Amino acid sequence: MRKRLSVLVPGAGLLLIAAGTAVFAQFQSGSYGSTKTNSLAQTISPQLSQDGNFSVASFPSFATELAEGEGRAETQSFCAMCHSTRYITMQPPLPAPTWDAEVNKMIKTFGAPIPDAAAKKIISYLQDHYTPENRKH
Ligand code: HEC
Repeated sequence: MRKRLSVLVPGAGLLLIAAGTAVFAQFQSGSYGSTKTNSLAQTISPQLSQDGNFSVASFPSFATELAEGEGRAETQSFCAMCHSTRYITMQPPLPAPTWDAEVNKMIKTFGAPIPDAAAKKIISYLQDHYTPENRKH
């Protein structure tokens, strides 16, 4: 009797794992295509496919509208090398010295290869458009 139990139990365990995997696989299936590429709020496709297949669309990227002005081009090219320029617009309005420190942190701490002249322009640009005094959107 004892021997029989020890044979049965591992078998039952395996069955449970198999059932669990099948259920999990169902959740993974479906379409991952994006319908609202400009929005962070992505809706999940309501249709889950019945088979184990799913397709993946291109990764949505969020276009950031930076304020018009002197230094915008430098900001757009140098500050989008490692992350999106959304990192700028998603901050609350920051005081001018904070933008100076932020740009220097990107260069000194994270190794952003930004020439001095461009860094100066970027700092002025951010201070002209993204502080509590002048930020419009
Ligand atoms: C060499 C890569 C690199 C470049 C170029 C770069 N950053 Fe960053 N940035 C980072 C990393 C790494 C973080 C922190 C990690 C994270 O949150 O993803 C970060 C985070 C930020 C943040 C969020 C706040 C913080 O301090 O963590 C802001 C704002 C930001 N960067 C602005 C800028 C601006 C403005 C520029 C252009 C001057 C720039 N970044 C260029 C690497 C870079």
